[in-house]
Formats: sequence, C-alpha cells, structure tokens
Amino acid sequence: MLAMCGSTWAVFLGGILLPQVLHLAVGLDNGLALKPPMGWMSWERFRCLTDCQLYPDECISEKLFRRHADLLVSEGYAAAGYEYIIIDDCWLEKDRDNDTQKLVPDKKRFPSGLNALSDHIHNKGLKFGLYQDYGTNTCAGYPGVIKHMQLDAQTFADWDVDYVKLDGCYANISDMATGYPEFGRLLNETGRPMVYSCSWPAYQEDAGEMPDYESLKKHCNLWRNWDDIDDSLESLMQIMDYFAKNQDRIQPHGGPGHWNDPDMLLLGNYGLSYDQSKLQMAIWAIMAAPLIMSNDLAAVRPEIKDILQNRAVIAVDQDELGIQGRRVLSRNQIEVWQRPITPVAKSGHHSYAVAFVSRRDDGAPYRIPFTVKELGLTNPKGYRVQDLYDGRNKLGVFQSESQFITRVNPNGVTFYKFTAL
Ligand code: GLA
Repeated sequence: MLAMCGSTWAVFLGGILLPQVLHLAVGLDNGLALKPPMGWMSWERFRCLTDCQLYPDECISEKLFRRHADLLVSEGYAAAGYEYIIIDDCWLEKDRDNDTQKLVPDKKRFPSGLNALSDHIHNKGLKFGLYQDYGTNTCAGYPGVIKHMQLDAQTFADWDVDYVKLDGCYANISDMATGYPEFGRLLNETGRPMVYSCSWPAYQEDAGEMPDYESLKKHCNLWRNWDDIDDSLESLMQIMDYFAKNQDRIQPHGGPGHWNDPDMLLLGNYGLSYDQSKLQMAIWAIMAAPLIMSNDLAAVRPEIKDILQNRAVIAVDQDELGIQGRRVLSRNQIEVWQRPITPVAKSGHHSYAVAFVSRRDDGAPYRIPFTVKELGLTNPKGYRVQDLYDGRNKLGVFQSESQFITRVNPNGVTFYKFTAL
C-alpha cells in the first residue's frame, strides 16, 4: 500500500513503514494535468529579448508577465480556461548567488523578485510556471540545474511555482532517462504540486534515439516530442507531419496526467493567416495538445481572439476521455484528422471531432465528399453533426453510409463534431 506522508513517499510492507524506498518505481503521480494544460508562455513571441531600454514592452521582465497575467483575465482568456503564465528562458542572472548557490532572477528585469510576481499571478486566480534546463546551462546560456537539483527544486517551491518546464540543452542525452525522473522526484519531495514538463524526448529524437514513453508517462505530466515551433505555416505543417508520421508510437501515450506536447500556439502573431490560425487550433484540439499561447495578448485581433476562445473547440481539446486523435486519411491533398470524444453512446460508440485540413493552394475552396464510414465512424445509429467554428451551422444527422461533403479553404480547415446517437 502506498501513502503520501507530508512531502515524502512511504510504503507499508507487512506493517513496516519504509520511507522513500520506492522513488523511481512510484513515479510522478502528482494528480496534476488531468486535462491538457492551458496558458501563456513567453518564448515563441518574445524569445530572449533582454534590452528593456530598447523594447520596454517586450523584454523578458516582470512587467511582461504581470501585463500578460492581467490581460489573460481582462481579455477573457482565463474564463475560457487559460490558466498558466509561464516564464521561458532568459529570466536569470548569469551567475548563481555566491554564498547560497541559489538561482537569482535578473535583478534589473525582475527587481521585485519572483515571490512578488508569483503573488501577482496567484492573486489574479492564475498559476505560475517557470523554465529551467537539466544541463549545465539553459539553451540561451543561463545557469542550469544539473549540479544543484535539490536546491533548485526547493527554490521553485519557495517561489510558489506551479509548473516547471525543464529543457535539455547542454546536457548528456544518455543521462536524461535517469536525470529527468530524479528532478521530478525532487519536485515532488518539496510537497508542492508542480506540473512537470519534460523536453527529454525531443533531444533523444533529435539524436536518433527512441524515447521510452512508458517512463515518460510515469515521470512527466507533458513532454516536448519534437522541434520548436516557429511563426510560419511551414513550421506548423512540419510539426503536424511529424506527429502524423509517428502517430503509431506517440499517440497511445497521451492521456490524463501525461500529454504529448507539439509546442506553443502561434495564433495572434505574424505568420499565420485567419484560416491557418483556425487550422492550428483545430489540430491542437485533435491532438489533445497543451494550449499554451505565445503572443502579445494586447495585440491579438478580435477574430483571432475568437478562435483562441472558441468554447466548442476548447471543449474538444479538454475532452475528459483524453484520447489523442490521429490523421486517418489523405485524399487530393485534403487530410482527415479525427479524435474520439464524449459523449459515448449506450452502444459504446464514441462521438468524434473531425478536422479536414487542406494542403492545397489552388485558390478556390476545395469541395470533397467522404462517406462517414471512410472517416472511421461506424455507429449504426449515426451521428448528429455540428460545425465547431460556426455553431449556427447545424448539418443534421448522418449515417455511416451517408456522404459527407465539406469545402475547405486553401491551407485551411473545416472542423465538426459528430455526436454518436
Ligand atoms: C529550447 C526550447 C524552447 C525554448 C528555448 C529557450 O529551444 O525547445 O521551447 O524554451 O529553448 O532557450
């Protein structure tokens, strides 16, 4: 029998209490991230801008994170489910404190310290996330955790951190399979629940090594599988292709408490059109991906904000079954992606979210018919179909032999919910 005693795991064997003997076997099991985390993170949009004189509204500083915590609430994102405000790289001084060896936030850019920032975020009803790196340095060259893991885990807890993204630059890839679980254990031992986001598989994949997904599921709440996303359709499509091509070995491992992470949402920035923005949001919902925006929330155009806050699409992403979807078909450069969701009919047949993605650029919206069966939907009683981007567009009931016709804009998406009857 297992029990959590304060901050320490303990195991009762034949009436004898053996503290901390099952560290690695117990795993993370912190009860967090039962749905894909939602929030905002600085990296994709604000990178490592540290010159606050030149870029006062954009530099990585307490001002940026306070502003975004305020905007997450005032612009309606928090009410739609976005919760975490996450500081990515470039928040540190270049050196640890000489005496204590603790990490020190940049004194000029975070003059009030991280407890004050964390209080501000918590007072808004939000949660606080922080980036670090398993190696000697973060990817941008600031000090990493490797030689101070216990101290840093405790420092995060002291700063009331709720979410840790642990990157993998400047580290031995061969150490990661033990080092990442070790840091997760140290986080747990602080007694403060912290979502643990691991970048370890992305580094392994890059080096041609196969990540151990069973171990990841046990030790991390989410993990970056692949390359960083950049502000373009090309980058988005490369990530989609990676997940689709490798779905047999990746998709089964996503689920409540442990998610695959295809990286941040680009919506609200420079690179994606309106249609492409709908596309990313739909496919991230199909993939049960964390919905972590990286944009300037003060500058998001209203029509893009509507996509980011679309309750029907968010509900697909956050579906309680937590089954990750797949690309199931591609015809005439129209891809079909689908995901089993609730409600489940009495017969046991799932409902589905189905996205039709156009990889075409030949101008006119492309009209294409599929039988419902071809989409992988076989409920004998059929499905009621609703357009997830246009709630007024009720399409009626379709049987599995019925033809379903959709018309998809170039590099765009159509997105439907098929509710099993
Ligand atoms: C890596 C990560 C990114 C970001 C940067 C910061 O590239 O994959 O998400 O955190 O480091 O330097």
